[in-house]
Amino acid sequence: MKDYQKVLKEVLKKIKPKPEEDERLKNLAKNALKVAKQGAEKYRAKAILAGSITRDTWLPGKLEFDIFIQFPESLPEKKLEELGLKLGKEIIGKMKGSYRIEYAQHPYVCGSVKGIDIDVVPCYEVKTPEKLKSAVDRTPFHVRFIEKSLTKKMSSEVRLLKQFCDANEFYGADAKTQGFSGYVCELLIIRYKNFLSVLKNAIGWKPGEIIDIKKFYSSKDYPKLRRKFKNQALILIDPTDKTRNTTAALSAENFFKFIKLAKEFFKNPREELFFERKLEPITENDLILYQMKRRTEIILVKFTPPKLVPDILWPQLRRFADRLQSILEEVKYEFRVLRKGVYTDEKDLAIVLLEMEVSKLPIVQKRVGPRVFDLDDSKRFLEKYKNQAITGPFIEGNFWCVEVKRKFLTAREKLFDSLKENVEILKAKGIPNYIAEQLVKGFEIISENERIMELIKKDNNFGIFLKGYFEKESLI
Ligand code: UTP
Ligand code: MN
Ligand code: MN
Repeated sequence: MKDYQKVLKEVLKKIKPKPEEDERLKNLAKNALKVAKQGAEKYRAKAILAGSITRDTWLPGKLEFDIFIQFPESLPEKKLEELGLKLGKEIIGKMKGSYRIEYAQHPYVCGSVKGIDIDVVPCYEVKTPEKLKSAVDRTPFHVRFIEKSLTKKMSSEVRLLKQFCDANEFYGADAKTQGFSGYVCELLIIRYKNFLSVLKNAIGWKPGEIIDIKKFYSSKDYPKLRRKFKNQALILIDPTDKTRNTTAALSAENFFKFIKLAKEFFKNPREELFFERKLEPITENDLILYQMKRRTEIILVKFTPPKLVPDILWPQLRRFADRLQSILEEVKYEFRVLRKGVYTDEKDLAIVLLEMEVSKLPIVQKRVGPRVFDLDDSKRFLEKYKNQAITGPFIEGNFWCVEVKRKFLTAREKLFDSLKENVEILKAKGIPNYIAEQLVKGFEIISENERIMELIKKDNNFGIFLKGYFEKESLI
């Protein structure tokens, strides 16, 4: 047996559910479905199982299954949300579990019964995917497609792929992860038959790669498809809906990470690639060493995150970080951000990390004006700087110049000045709305190592994030 087959066998032993675990989950699912069906009847709705439980592709690390409640199309959306939640609570209540409300397209109940999570998701029953009213309505079509296309033998292959993605932090199509969903893992196995051949094929992928299982398109349509799915690294057409890319959420970074890890697996097959290798949080020594090696300044903007679902919070944080960079890099201020990152525990702590290439500037700033021969422009320039100039106006070559006193000497000062405004001004500056509303309640700008270390002491994961920030791995 080849080395890598041995590795896969070992990994599979560890991630395949034990028979008793399998039975426990399936029994609970059977019961829950029965309760759900009884409840759904009252509203002329149907209950079905969906997701990984229907194809035996769930991982023991995530004990969860999904129940979809399909309501008639004629039901108004408000009513669907109301009844969906009511029914969800009722089902979990009858099973003597606890629940919380989660938000996808519609709010839904996420229950917990005897240590197993149950998602109860309301959707519309539509005849064909062209008639979808919301994205969740697609799921029953996925269930049917996978049911007929994924053989029993393939479910282990899906588990390997999911585990491989999960261990390397790109399992999930949510906004934070930007990786491969469970459905996508299943489709890749359907297309390439097994885990090894998914990896083998991935090694040849180029950005804009098209995978069209049902051959909806011929290769002459490909340029058009790439335009339609612009900026999407992988285009895996949904077999149940030819207009949809199932990997739209996959970031280019994770696309290349996957390819790199696939190469790594063949070069040096080993079990560790399937199990999370958690970094240690950064130490104060590390932090000092990185700073000595890089000679940059670390600035953290710290605040309490707005209460938003992660799928909204993460994009807002990333947009905020972009905005902070553009504020600092406005031409007249001359600060420069080398690289940046965002962190949140999704509860109490949100941080934008700005690693500054230029964060301190001299008091004096030179402004080069128009050519002396451009009489009108020169007049305006001289008028403007008449009182401001601390040196000049003088001439260099044939250009008017002045030296003025800089308004902000440090990036910290500039950030503080920009962020201390009231909420309307913050929003007008392009700070995402919910974040603007938080900033007016307070924020801190931190760059001293002791204070960074204090933060890490309170939240280890932030220390791990910082370590990962500095230890950015090569993608080739
Ligand atoms: P899951 O996230 O539970 O995935 O979504 P899964 O395929 O069961 O995989 P694991 O094993 O739990 O990780 C189940 C179905 O619900 C739909 C997806 O289409 C998926 O097929 N779904 C889930 C949504 O449409 N929206 C969501 O926010 C979550
Ligand atoms: Mn699931
Ligand atoms: Mn789920």
